[in-house]
Amino acid sequence: MQESNNLDKLAKLLKNKKLIVALQRPSYSYNKVYNGKIKYEKSAGGVHLLFDALLKKTGGTMIARSSGNADKLIIDKENSLKIPPKKGDYKLKLIFLKKKEVENFYYGFANQTLWPLCHNVFVKPIFHQSWWDTYLQVNQKFAQSILEEIKEKNDFKNTVIWVNDYHLALLPKFLKEKNKELKVGVFWHIPWPTYEIFRICPWRKELLEGLLSSDFIAFHRSYHVANFIQCATRDLGVITDSEPTLIIFKDLKTKIGNLPAGIDYEEIKSQMRKKVSKKIIKKDFGFDYKKLILSVDRIDYTKGIIERLNIIDFFFQKYPQYIEEVTFLMIGAPSRTHIPAYKKLSHEINDLVEKINWRYSTSNWQPIHFINQTIDRKKIISYYQLADICFVTPLDDGMNLVAKEYVIACNPKNGMLILSQFAGAAKDLTEAILINPYEVEKSADALTYTLNMPSSEKLKRNKIMKSKIKENDIFKWAYEFLKNLV
Ligand code: F6P
Repeated sequence: MQESNNLDKLAKLLKNKKLIVALQRPSYSYNKVYNGKIKYEKSAGGVHLLFDALLKKTGGTMIARSSGNADKLIIDKENSLKIPPKKGDYKLKLIFLKKKEVENFYYGFANQTLWPLCHNVFVKPIFHQSWWDTYLQVNQKFAQSILEEIKEKNDFKNTVIWVNDYHLALLPKFLKEKNKELKVGVFWHIPWPTYEIFRICPWRKELLEGLLSSDFIAFHRSYHVANFIQCATRDLGVITDSEPTLIIFKDLKTKIGNLPAGIDYEEIKSQMRKKVSKKIIKKDFGFDYKKLILSVDRIDYTKGIIERLNIIDFFFQKYPQYIEEVTFLMIGAPSRTHIPAYKKLSHEINDLVEKINWRYSTSNWQPIHFINQTIDRKKIISYYQLADICFVTPLDDGMNLVAKEYVIACNPKNGMLILSQFAGAAKDLTEAILINPYEVEKSADALTYTLNMPSSEKLKRNKIMKSKIKENDIFKWAYEFLKNLV
């Protein structure tokens, strides 16, 4: 019911409008497999899932860079294809980058400069002129690809462009330079740093000016909005006006706000199995368990995986009664693997898992099962249904959608979320058990507290969280964002 209300409002808003969503990675990629066949893969990562779910309902165009080695064999003359493959709810248009461009743009400026600059996790950003130059060029390519979609003069007024994330900060500027009538909004899904951190970036003014060419900029949380305003004020001397918050810079006015992203509640419900049994875990991973603690992330230093392992180590040391009683299933999708900091992290995780498993294993049990793979979404949802705890420990995170997905899919009498207070989602999910993942001892105590929480208490907390997530779903989020552009 709720979904249809929010979706109806969104459909009405977008009537006679053309929606173009720009993001770095497409929702689907096509790859050659060993027998000469081509297989498609859905991208892991919260933001891609969000826009796939959204465009399936609203229709429109997604513009992203190609990331599959068989994409070229699937596309039409306009570099486009219909998604999902047989149904074709929306159009996916791909941009093909050269290897050097991917290296400098994606592995370089986006993920070794901006990513560590924006996440407060003490990994130093790296600044290279050539990375920045390519970042500009790739943003220009995105602009050109979007402008090709606007064929009639009248389309400029009727097109709404939703730009996503730190990969495309210059895109609003390049679009507006072509036509001021275009409506452009940016959603910055990762944190925005304080000025004391941001000021070290040599291209900070250009980044701010690029973003401030848009009509609307949104972040998940108000503290990121406050940081952004502080940076724009100190670096560009912009004027701000509140109600709604406006930034006035040169002859431009940009609205700015915080809109915490929701998820597709009904989609998760529809993917849940009617009956789940522990046998699924035995079949998929080969182990039995008494209590299951799950985590699902990309292997990324912002996710607090080392801190989580330190907590697990301390937990078994302080509470040896849980040996053989509690098993951790850690699913970690490989991510950005060509970057040295990610390679190093991967080694550290493997070493620590091995150390903890050696320390506490018995003849027929091991504490941690680390699955270093991308796992099919439907399967993940069945693990959510089974898990007694979902253990989400980011050190800094714009939102974290795994936390919200788990709350919807878990058994409300049995499951409970333990969530880092540094995830944007912690502001919405205040009934979860909130921890500081740097506090090893207290976090281990939080694990025992949660393992012993009565069912009635879990039910009460889950009910409140579920209803908040249901009400503030992805369609409401998209409506609140797009209404600033229509
Ligand atoms: O939230 C940041 C983000 O870049 C998202 O846009 C994306 O869903 C996720 O991280 C995965 O990143 P990548 O595309 O680099 O694998």
